[in-house]
Amino acid sequence: MFRLIFLLFALILAACGERQPNYPARQVPAGLLTDTIQIAAGQVLFREKCATCHGHPDEGRSPRANFFQPPAPDFSSPAYRTVDPAYLFWRIEVGKTVDPYLSRGSVMPAWGPTLNETEIWQLVAYLKVRAG
Ligand code: HEC
Repeated sequence: MFRLIFLLFALILAACGERQPNYPARQVPAGLLTDTIQIAAGQVLFREKCATCHGHPDEGRSPRANFFQPPAPDFSSPAYRTVDPAYLFWRIEVGKTVDPYLSRGSVMPAWGPTLNETEIWQLVAYLKVRAG
């Protein structure tokens, strides 16, 4: 009986975890999201490192990207306007290395080891502008 309750509890926890992954709270640097220099720097980084998977065809999107499962999201979607910048920062930092993305077979690279905090914030600032 206890085992059953424990199992149920674990399942409920796992289900919650899927919908709302825990990510660290982060304070967006003051003025970042409206700073045109930071946004422009983010666009350069995006074209260099992200557009093969997340870009439009004229930005160098690879045809391979059409077959990713789960797909690489199109950040032009207005849905990204309301996404928490701290979540975007965290996903760029850890990529596919954490669950649930890892077990879903994501190909999103972790950029934490290659980009510094400033660069990741520049990307977040750009994604926010790119969102329709
Ligand atoms: C090799 C292809 C590839 C590259 C390169 C890539 N990504 Fe991704 N990315 C993905 C895929 C596929 C997903 C969807 C699966 C997931 O969420 O892990 C994703 C997910 C994301 C997410 C989470 C979106 C959400 O709604 O949860 C963010 C943010 C992101 N990528 C940002 C970036 C940034 C910024 C770069 C460049 C520094 C980048 N990605 C480079 C493939 C890629």
